[in-house]
Amino acid sequence: MSHITQAPLDRLPVALAPTQSVTLHINGQDHTLQIAPWTTLLDALREYLDLTGTKKGCDHGQCGACTVLVDGKRINSCLSLAVMQEGSEIQTIEGLGTEENLHPLQQAFIDHDAFQCGYCTPGQICSAQGLLNEGKARTEAEVRELMSGNLCRCGAYPNILSAVMEVLTNEESGTKNLKPKEDVGQWAAGATKPDMAPVEPAK
Ligand code: FES
Ligand code: FES
Repeated sequence: MSHITQAPLDRLPVALAPTQSVTLHINGQDHTLQIAPWTTLLDALREYLDLTGTKKGCDHGQCGACTVLVDGKRINSCLSLAVMQEGSEIQTIEGLGTEENLHPLQQAFIDHDAFQCGYCTPGQICSAQGLLNEGKARTEAEVRELMSGNLCRCGAYPNILSAVMEVLTNEESGTKNLKPKEDVGQWAAGATKPDMAPVEPAK
């Protein structure tokens, strides 16, 4: 017969590390959280603030689903601790546009049918905004290369590329009007441009 012995209270392991107060500036608003210091920015957004537009895919910096913008630069929020981002301007997909006034990238993704399940889409759009902010990509090959950290298991790469190229081209020409939607049927039918290779995952 076995006995379970309760350890004296003063011998119990001390518990969990204390939490700490962190104030994050997200989409123009301050949020003060009481969180464990090892909480990632991704978990702070999703589990504490209900900002679930940012997705958790691999949780290891491999898929890009968790991409957000910090001071205008794209980062994998699963690889950043929330406490590291105090004082930064954090922008998530919820802060990029509204239902009534979509961000040009959001509109372009719709127009080009640039998603299927949509799980990677917030990360793709935030990453594309970071790409535009960087100002380094000009060609399809450069966009493919610089978006290669964002994986899409549905394989919507040609349409994602098409959407990003449209916004990039419009920004470069100073055109705010998006192109007419005559291509939508073609993309919706799953057609791909023969000269567009799929984006390869980052090695
Ligand atoms: S969830 Fe962050 S890179 Fe995959
Ligand atoms: S649209 Fe499904 S993972 Fe990209």
